[in-house]
Amino acid sequence: MERQIVEIDIRTWQPDSASAEWITTLEAGKVLYFPHLAFNTSESERRFLTHAARDPKSRNISLGADGKLKGAAGDALAQREMAAMIGRFRGQAQTLIGAILPRYSEALRLAPTSYRPMLVETRTQSWRADDRRLHVDAFPSRPNYGERILRVFANLNPDGAPRVWRVGEPFDLVAQRFLPRAKPYVRWQAKVLSASHVTKSFRSEYDHLMLQLHDGMKSDLDYQRNAAQVTMPFPAGSVWICFSDQTSHAVMSGQYMMEQTLHLPADRQYDPASSPLAVLTRLTGRRLV
Ligand code: SIN
Ligand code: FE
Repeated sequence: MERQIVEIDIRTWQPDSASAEWITTLEAGKVLYFPHLAFNTSESERRFLTHAARDPKSRNISLGADGKLKGAAGDALAQREMAAMIGRFRGQAQTLIGAILPRYSEALRLAPTSYRPMLVETRTQSWRADDRRLHVDAFPSRPNYGERILRVFANLNPDGAPRVWRVGEPFDLVAQRFLPRAKPYVRWQAKVLSASHVTKSFRSEYDHLMLQLHDGMKSDLDYQRNAAQVTMPFPAGSVWICFSDQTSHAVMSGQYMMEQTLHLPADRQYDPASSPLAVLTRLTGRRLV
């Protein structure tokens, strides 16, 4: 298998020069890895590097596009400071994307920024929610009609623990393997799902197929073990980005990560033909949205 993770030696969030090759690499579904780029915390912010930073009633800490902090523990002052820390990461992530993918800027839609202070290895979840299994991102309640999920990640572990991922085979191979096993799309079922508010909007055939790939990968233990894959420990003090709806990925261990999601219409890519929507449309020979 061709290398799925490509290292880039930049040292600032706003590099002077970017390369067209990085764009092609990212849009091919690979991970761009920046070993010498770090999200730095102040001494005062380091008190948030504990699992207790999270309100135990929430799954995650997130800063909404509207600036509202959700899921954090602590008093008003602590929460303001945590919001500022997460907001600083958001700014840096946007600066980086603007610098290396300038054509996206106008078209990106900002999603919440999340801070994940929980230890990955002890999380217990159903197989479907278990991100320790290789998968491509697809969300049951939020159809996206082919809109891209671009994610910027930073490992800010203070004890030097890496965030260990597995990265699997290219998307077209995933699709070729799991599409034949996908349950057929049933329009009236999609109508029931949206009428009963299980989905926030009508689930398109594209969204159905992406969920089928997600579930097909996660539920196949033989695939999990034997699919072409590499294990990648992203060190503390590093950053990586990928299209998580396209890159086959799993998280095996780690604690303390920042994550910024940015949505991009597939037709605003440099090469729209590389998108999951284009790949699935080619393979099925049908309009999917
Ligand atoms: C995921 O997107 O599957 C999880 C990534 C992570 O928590 O490192
Ligand atoms: Fe994921």
